Amino acid sequence: MKKLQKISALALLVGGLVLTTACHRSPNDPGTEFAPQMYISKAYEPYSQTEKNKINPYGMNMRLPANNTVSRRFSNNVTGETSYQGDFMYYAIGKGDAGLAEAEKSLNPPFEPDDKVLAEGQVLYTRYCTPCHGEKGDGKGKVAELYKGVANISASGALKSVNSGHIFHVITHGKGRMWSHASQLNPDERWKVVYYVHTLQGQELKGRPIEFKAEKGATFVLKSVLFKTGSNELDESSKKDLDRLADFMKKNPTVTGEISGHTDNEGDAKKNQKISEERAKVVTQYLEKAGISTDKLTEVGLGDKQPKASNDTKEGKAQNRRIEFKIL
Ligand code: HEC
Repeated sequence: MKKLQKISALALLVGGLVLTTACHRSPNDPGTEFAPQMYISKAYEPYSQTEKNKINPYGMNMRLPANNTVSRRFSNNVTGETSYQGDFMYYAIGKGDAGLAEAEKSLNPPFEPDDKVLAEGQVLYTRYCTPCHGEKGDGKGKVAELYKGVANISASGALKSVNSGHIFHVITHGKGRMWSHASQLNPDERWKVVYYVHTLQGQELKGRPIEFKAEKGATFVLKSVLFKTGSNELDESSKKDLDRLADFMKKNPTVTGEISGHTDNEGDAKKNQKISEERAKVVTQYLEKAGISTDKLTEVGLGDKQPKASNDTKEGKAQNRRIEFKIL
Protein backbone atom coordinates (compact mmCIF):
# COMPACT_ATOMS: atom_id res chain seq x y z
CA MET A 1 0.00 0.00 0.00
CA LYS A 2 2.80 2.37 0.92
CA LYS A 3 4.57 1.52 -2.28
CA LEU A 4 1.49 2.40 -4.31
CA GLN A 5 1.21 5.78 -2.57
CA LYS A 6 4.82 6.51 -3.39
CA ILE A 7 4.30 5.69 -7.02
CA SER A 8 1.22 7.91 -7.22
CA ALA A 9 3.11 10.78 -5.62
CA LEU A 10 5.89 10.38 -8.14
CA ALA A 11 3.42 10.29 -10.96
CA LEU A 12 1.83 13.50 -9.71
CA LEU A 13 5.20 15.18 -9.51
CA VAL A 14 6.16 14.17 -13.06
CA GLY A 15 2.71 15.18 -14.28
CA GLY A 16 3.06 18.56 -12.61
CA LEU A 17 6.47 19.10 -14.16
CA VAL A 18 5.16 18.23 -17.58
CA LEU A 19 2.22 20.57 -17.12
CA THR A 20 4.35 23.44 -15.90
CA THR A 21 6.73 22.98 -18.83
CA ALA A 22 3.79 23.08 -21.22
CA CYS A 23 2.54 26.24 -19.56
CA HIS A 24 5.74 28.08 -20.37
CA ARG A 25 4.98 28.05 -24.08
CA SER A 26 3.69 31.15 -25.75
CA PRO A 27 0.22 30.52 -27.14
CA ASN A 28 1.34 32.25 -30.33
CA ASP A 29 4.13 29.81 -31.01
CA PRO A 30 2.94 26.97 -33.20
CA GLY A 31 5.83 24.80 -32.07
CA THR A 32 8.20 22.84 -34.24
CA GLU A 33 7.21 21.67 -37.68
CA PHE A 34 8.45 18.16 -38.10
CA ALA A 35 7.66 17.57 -41.73
CA PRO A 36 7.17 20.87 -43.54
CA GLN A 37 7.00 19.19 -46.92
CA MET A 38 3.81 17.56 -45.79
CA TYR A 39 1.93 20.81 -45.69
CA ILE A 40 4.05 23.14 -47.78
CA SER A 41 3.52 22.11 -51.36
CA LYS A 42 6.54 21.57 -53.55
CA ALA A 43 4.48 22.53 -56.55
CA TYR A 44 4.24 26.17 -57.64
CA GLU A 45 1.10 27.10 -55.75
CA PRO A 46 -0.15 30.46 -56.97
CA TYR A 47 -2.13 31.26 -53.84
CA SER A 48 0.10 29.89 -51.07
CA GLN A 49 3.63 30.83 -51.91
CA THR A 50 6.17 30.44 -49.11
CA GLU A 51 9.44 31.07 -50.89
CA LYS A 52 10.58 33.43 -53.60
CA ASN A 53 10.25 31.85 -57.02
CA LYS A 54 13.69 31.87 -58.61
CA ILE A 55 12.50 31.59 -62.20
CA ASN A 56 9.29 33.54 -62.69
CA PRO A 57 9.14 37.32 -62.97
CA TYR A 58 8.92 39.23 -59.67
CA GLY A 59 9.67 36.02 -57.80
CA MET A 60 5.97 35.15 -58.01
CA ASN A 61 4.47 31.73 -58.57
CA MET A 62 1.36 33.29 -60.01
CA ARG A 63 1.67 34.31 -63.64
CA LEU A 64 -0.37 36.41 -65.98
CA PRO A 65 -2.24 34.58 -68.75
CA ALA A 66 -0.58 34.75 -72.16
CA ASN A 67 -1.46 37.75 -74.30
CA ASN A 68 -4.80 37.59 -76.13
CA THR A 69 -6.10 34.82 -73.90
CA VAL A 70 -9.90 34.84 -73.90
CA SER A 71 -11.47 34.42 -70.52
CA ARG A 72 -13.71 31.37 -70.70
CA ARG A 73 -16.02 32.77 -68.11
CA PHE A 74 -17.27 35.44 -70.45
CA SER A 75 -16.71 33.78 -73.79
CA ASN A 76 -20.31 32.70 -74.24
CA ASN A 77 -22.01 35.35 -72.23
CA VAL A 78 -24.55 36.21 -74.87
CA THR A 79 -27.20 37.51 -72.51
CA GLY A 80 -24.80 40.03 -71.02
CA GLU A 81 -25.35 38.61 -67.56
CA THR A 82 -22.39 37.70 -65.44
CA SER A 83 -22.68 34.09 -64.50
CA TYR A 84 -20.22 32.63 -62.09
CA GLN A 85 -21.89 29.28 -61.92
CA GLY A 86 -20.18 27.80 -64.94
CA ASP A 87 -17.05 29.67 -64.03
CA PHE A 88 -14.39 27.26 -65.21
CA MET A 89 -16.33 26.20 -68.30
CA TYR A 90 -17.18 27.97 -71.53
CA TYR A 91 -20.87 28.05 -70.68
CA ALA A 92 -22.03 31.31 -69.27
CA ILE A 93 -25.56 31.81 -70.50
CA GLY A 94 -27.45 33.13 -67.53
CA LYS A 95 -30.33 31.56 -65.66
CA GLY A 96 -33.97 32.46 -66.04
CA ASP A 97 -36.33 32.62 -69.00
CA ALA A 98 -34.05 34.89 -71.03
CA GLY A 99 -31.15 32.49 -70.64
CA LEU A 100 -33.29 29.51 -71.59
CA ALA A 101 -34.58 31.27 -74.70
CA GLU A 102 -31.04 32.23 -75.66
CA ALA A 103 -29.80 28.67 -75.18
CA GLU A 104 -32.63 27.32 -77.35
CA LYS A 105 -31.74 29.76 -80.10
CA SER A 106 -27.98 29.73 -80.07
CA LEU A 107 -26.62 26.43 -78.76
CA ASN A 108 -25.75 23.47 -80.91
CA PRO A 109 -23.94 20.29 -79.96
CA PRO A 110 -20.26 20.48 -80.84
CA PHE A 111 -20.07 16.89 -82.11
CA GLU A 112 -22.14 14.33 -84.00
CA PRO A 113 -24.33 11.73 -82.36
CA ASP A 114 -22.59 8.60 -83.57
CA ASP A 115 -23.16 5.21 -81.94
CA LYS A 116 -20.41 5.69 -79.37
CA VAL A 117 -21.76 9.07 -78.27
CA LEU A 118 -25.25 7.62 -77.85
CA ALA A 119 -23.99 4.63 -75.89
CA GLU A 120 -22.11 6.94 -73.52
CA GLY A 121 -25.13 9.22 -73.30
CA GLN A 122 -27.23 6.28 -72.23
CA VAL A 123 -24.81 5.31 -69.48
CA LEU A 124 -24.74 8.89 -68.15
CA TYR A 125 -28.50 9.29 -68.41
CA THR A 126 -29.00 6.05 -66.52
CA ARG A 127 -26.66 7.20 -63.81
CA TYR A 128 -27.84 10.78 -63.35
CA CYS A 129 -31.35 11.11 -64.73
CA THR A 130 -33.08 7.72 -64.48
CA PRO A 131 -33.61 7.95 -60.70
CA CYS A 132 -36.08 10.79 -61.31
CA HIS A 133 -37.04 10.71 -64.99
CA GLY A 134 -37.15 6.94 -65.33
CA GLU A 135 -35.54 4.70 -67.92
CA LYS A 136 -37.95 5.83 -70.64
CA GLY A 137 -37.97 9.49 -69.63
CA ASP A 138 -41.62 9.33 -68.61
CA GLY A 139 -40.94 10.76 -65.14
CA LYS A 140 -41.54 7.46 -63.38
CA GLY A 141 -38.18 6.98 -61.68
CA LYS A 142 -37.94 5.58 -58.15
CA VAL A 143 -37.05 8.97 -56.66
CA ALA A 144 -40.05 10.54 -58.40
CA GLU A 145 -42.32 8.47 -56.15
CA LEU A 146 -41.25 10.81 -53.35
CA TYR A 147 -39.93 13.85 -55.21
CA LYS A 148 -43.05 15.03 -56.96
CA GLY A 149 -43.36 17.02 -60.15
CA VAL A 150 -40.71 15.28 -62.25
CA ALA A 151 -41.25 16.19 -65.89
CA ASN A 152 -42.12 13.65 -68.56
CA ILE A 153 -39.40 14.11 -71.18
CA SER A 154 -40.36 11.08 -73.30
CA ALA A 155 -42.20 10.91 -76.61
CA SER A 156 -45.50 10.80 -74.72
CA GLY A 157 -44.97 14.10 -72.92
CA ALA A 158 -45.42 17.77 -73.68
CA LEU A 159 -41.64 18.28 -73.76
CA LYS A 160 -41.04 15.91 -76.65
CA SER A 161 -40.05 18.72 -79.00
CA VAL A 162 -37.72 20.79 -76.81
CA ASN A 163 -34.40 21.19 -78.58
CA SER A 164 -30.77 20.46 -77.72
CA GLY A 165 -29.94 23.92 -76.40
CA HIS A 166 -32.97 23.80 -74.08
CA ILE A 167 -32.00 20.47 -72.56
CA PHE A 168 -28.34 21.45 -72.24
CA HIS A 169 -29.40 24.59 -70.41
CA VAL A 170 -31.71 22.70 -68.04
CA ILE A 171 -28.96 20.21 -67.19
CA THR A 172 -26.52 23.08 -66.60
CA HIS A 173 -28.65 25.46 -64.56
CA GLY A 174 -31.54 23.27 -63.44
CA LYS A 175 -35.10 24.48 -63.73
CA GLY A 176 -37.85 24.81 -61.17
CA ARG A 177 -37.62 21.77 -58.92
CA MET A 178 -34.79 20.23 -60.87
CA TRP A 179 -31.32 21.09 -59.66
CA SER A 180 -28.25 21.92 -61.70
CA HIS A 181 -26.15 18.96 -62.79
CA ALA A 182 -23.22 21.13 -63.86
CA SER A 183 -20.94 19.71 -61.20
CA GLN A 184 -21.71 16.09 -62.09
CA LEU A 185 -21.48 16.34 -65.86
CA ASN A 186 -18.91 18.26 -67.86
CA PRO A 187 -20.14 20.02 -71.02
CA ASP A 188 -19.27 17.14 -73.37
CA GLU A 189 -21.04 14.68 -71.13
CA ARG A 190 -24.08 16.95 -71.03
CA TRP A 191 -24.26 16.96 -74.83
CA LYS A 192 -24.10 13.17 -74.83
CA VAL A 193 -27.02 13.07 -72.40
CA VAL A 194 -28.86 15.62 -74.57
CA TYR A 195 -28.56 13.33 -77.59
CA TYR A 196 -29.76 10.37 -75.60
CA VAL A 197 -32.75 12.37 -74.31
CA HIS A 198 -33.62 13.16 -77.95
CA THR A 199 -33.92 9.43 -78.61
CA LEU A 200 -36.30 9.14 -75.63
CA GLN A 201 -38.30 12.06 -77.01
CA GLY A 202 -38.54 10.18 -80.28
CA GLN A 203 -36.78 13.02 -82.10
CA GLU A 204 -34.80 12.44 -85.21
CA LEU A 205 -31.16 13.10 -84.42
CA LYS A 206 -29.77 15.89 -86.52
CA GLY A 207 -26.32 15.28 -87.88
CA ARG A 208 -26.40 11.57 -87.11
CA PRO A 209 -23.72 10.16 -89.37
CA ILE A 210 -24.97 7.62 -91.90
CA GLU A 211 -24.00 4.10 -90.94
CA PHE A 212 -23.48 2.55 -94.37
CA LYS A 213 -24.06 -1.19 -94.57
CA ALA A 214 -22.85 -3.41 -97.36
CA GLU A 215 -26.25 -4.96 -98.15
CA LYS A 216 -27.53 -5.33 -101.67
CA GLY A 217 -30.42 -2.96 -102.34
CA ALA A 218 -29.82 -0.83 -99.24
CA THR A 219 -30.50 2.84 -99.96
CA PHE A 220 -29.10 5.80 -98.05
CA VAL A 221 -30.18 9.42 -98.35
CA LEU A 222 -27.05 11.55 -98.30
CA LYS A 223 -28.62 14.23 -96.17
CA SER A 224 -25.63 16.48 -95.79
CA VAL A 225 -25.23 16.72 -99.57
CA LEU A 226 -26.65 20.10 -100.55
CA PHE A 227 -26.17 22.39 -103.49
CA LYS A 228 -25.92 26.15 -103.68
CA THR A 229 -29.32 27.47 -104.78
CA GLY A 230 -29.90 27.19 -108.49
CA SER A 231 -26.49 25.70 -109.17
CA ASN A 232 -24.69 22.39 -109.22
CA GLU A 233 -21.96 23.53 -106.93
CA LEU A 234 -21.68 21.40 -103.82
CA ASP A 235 -22.22 23.11 -100.52
CA GLU A 236 -19.41 22.87 -97.98
CA SER A 237 -21.61 20.67 -95.73
CA SER A 238 -21.73 17.95 -98.41
CA LYS A 239 -18.23 16.76 -97.69
CA LYS A 240 -19.30 15.08 -94.48
CA ASP A 241 -21.46 12.35 -96.00
CA LEU A 242 -19.44 12.09 -99.20
CA ASP A 243 -16.14 11.55 -97.42
CA ARG A 244 -17.80 8.98 -95.22
CA LEU A 245 -19.20 7.22 -98.29
CA ALA A 246 -15.80 7.23 -99.97
CA ASP A 247 -14.34 5.78 -96.81
CA PHE A 248 -16.98 3.08 -96.69
CA MET A 249 -16.37 2.11 -100.32
CA LYS A 250 -12.65 1.87 -99.72
CA LYS A 251 -13.20 -0.41 -96.76
CA ASN A 252 -15.67 -2.51 -98.78
CA PRO A 253 -13.95 -2.81 -102.16
CA THR A 254 -16.56 -5.21 -103.59
CA VAL A 255 -19.42 -2.74 -103.19
CA THR A 256 -20.78 -1.04 -106.29
CA GLY A 257 -23.46 1.60 -106.10
CA GLU A 258 -25.78 4.00 -107.80
CA ILE A 259 -25.94 7.71 -107.13
CA SER A 260 -29.34 9.17 -107.89
CA GLY A 261 -30.40 12.80 -107.97
CA HIS A 262 -33.96 13.84 -107.08
CA THR A 263 -35.84 17.14 -107.09
CA ASP A 264 -39.20 18.42 -105.85
CA ASN A 265 -41.97 19.22 -108.34
CA GLU A 266 -41.36 22.97 -108.34
CA GLY A 267 -40.97 24.44 -111.83
CA ASP A 268 -40.50 22.70 -115.14
CA ALA A 269 -40.26 18.88 -115.07
CA LYS A 270 -37.72 18.74 -117.89
CA LYS A 271 -35.51 21.25 -116.14
CA ASN A 272 -35.76 19.27 -112.94
CA GLN A 273 -34.76 16.14 -114.79
CA LYS A 274 -31.69 17.86 -116.15
CA ILE A 275 -30.71 19.36 -112.78
CA SER A 276 -31.02 15.96 -111.09
CA GLU A 277 -28.77 14.35 -113.69
CA GLU A 278 -26.18 17.09 -113.36
CA ARG A 279 -26.18 16.93 -109.59
CA ALA A 280 -25.74 13.16 -109.56
CA LYS A 281 -22.79 13.67 -111.85
CA VAL A 282 -21.20 16.28 -109.58
CA VAL A 283 -21.46 13.82 -106.69
CA THR A 284 -19.81 10.96 -108.60
CA GLN A 285 -17.08 13.34 -109.68
CA TYR A 286 -16.44 14.24 -106.07
CA LEU A 287 -16.22 10.56 -105.13
CA GLU A 288 -13.88 9.92 -108.01
CA LYS A 289 -11.59 12.65 -106.75
CA ALA A 290 -11.76 11.03 -103.33
CA GLY A 291 -10.30 7.88 -104.87
CA ILE A 292 -13.32 5.79 -105.87
CA SER A 293 -13.07 4.23 -109.30
CA THR A 294 -15.84 5.23 -111.75
CA ASP A 295 -16.57 1.57 -112.63
CA LYS A 296 -17.92 1.17 -109.11
CA LEU A 297 -20.43 3.98 -109.52
CA THR A 298 -23.33 4.61 -111.82
CA GLU A 299 -25.27 7.82 -111.77
CA VAL A 300 -28.86 8.55 -112.62
CA GLY A 301 -31.12 11.60 -112.53
CA LEU A 302 -34.73 10.93 -111.64
CA GLY A 303 -36.09 14.48 -111.53
CA ASP A 304 -39.31 14.67 -109.53
CA LYS A 305 -40.42 11.13 -110.46
CA GLN A 306 -39.67 9.46 -107.12
CA PRO A 307 -40.76 11.81 -104.34
CA LYS A 308 -40.04 10.62 -100.82
CA ALA A 309 -42.62 12.86 -99.18
CA SER A 310 -45.57 15.00 -100.20
CA ASN A 311 -44.76 17.93 -102.46
CA ASP A 312 -47.59 19.90 -100.84
CA THR A 313 -45.54 21.11 -97.88
CA LYS A 314 -42.27 22.98 -97.61
CA GLU A 315 -40.78 20.25 -95.42
CA GLY A 316 -41.89 17.55 -97.84
CA LYS A 317 -40.31 19.40 -100.73
CA ALA A 318 -37.07 19.75 -98.82
CA GLN A 319 -37.05 15.98 -98.28
CA ASN A 320 -37.64 15.36 -101.95
CA ARG A 321 -34.63 17.37 -103.08
CA ARG A 322 -31.99 14.82 -102.35
CA ILE A 323 -29.11 12.63 -103.42
CA GLU A 324 -29.37 8.91 -102.70
CA PHE A 325 -26.83 6.15 -102.72
CA LYS A 326 -28.05 2.65 -103.44
CA ILE A 327 -25.98 -0.50 -103.17
CA LEU A 328 -26.27 -2.63 -106.31
C1 HEC B 1 -33.91 14.81 -58.39
C2 HEC B 1 -34.71 14.49 -59.52
C3 HEC B 1 -34.22 14.84 -60.90
C4 HEC B 1 -33.06 14.45 -61.53
C5 HEC B 1 -31.95 13.59 -60.98
C6 HEC B 1 -33.12 14.99 -62.87
N1 HEC B 1 -34.26 15.72 -63.04
FE1 HEC B 1 -34.86 16.67 -64.72
N2 HEC B 1 -36.50 17.36 -63.79
C7 HEC B 1 -36.84 17.08 -62.48
C8 HEC B 1 -38.02 17.84 -62.12
C9 HEC B 1 -38.71 17.83 -60.78
C10 HEC B 1 -38.39 18.57 -63.28
C11 HEC B 1 -39.54 19.56 -63.42
C12 HEC B 1 -38.93 20.93 -63.22
C13 HEC B 1 -39.94 22.00 -62.94
O1 HEC B 1 -40.48 22.53 -63.93
O2 HEC B 1 -40.16 22.29 -61.77
C14 HEC B 1 -37.42 18.23 -64.31
C15 HEC B 1 -37.43 18.74 -65.59
C16 HEC B 1 -36.56 18.37 -66.59
C17 HEC B 1 -36.66 18.81 -67.98
C18 HEC B 1 -37.72 19.70 -68.55
C19 HEC B 1 -37.45 21.13 -68.27
C20 HEC B 1 -38.52 22.05 -68.83
O3 HEC B 1 -38.25 22.74 -69.78
O4 HEC B 1 -39.63 22.06 -68.26
C21 HEC B 1 -35.63 18.22 -68.65
C22 HEC B 1 -35.31 18.37 -70.12
C23 HEC B 1 -34.88 17.43 -67.69
N3 HEC B 1 -35.48 17.54 -66.46
C24 HEC B 1 -33.78 16.69 -68.00
C25 HEC B 1 -33.02 16.00 -67.05
C26 HEC B 1 -31.79 15.31 -67.37
C27 HEC B 1 -31.19 15.18 -68.75
C28 HEC B 1 -31.33 14.79 -66.20
C29 HEC B 1 -30.06 14.02 -65.97
C30 HEC B 1 -28.85 14.73 -66.22
C31 HEC B 1 -32.27 15.15 -65.15
N4 HEC B 1 -33.27 15.90 -65.72
C32 HEC B 1 -32.14 14.79 -63.83
C33 HEC B 1 -36.17 16.25 -61.62
C34 HEC B 1 -34.95 15.66 -61.87
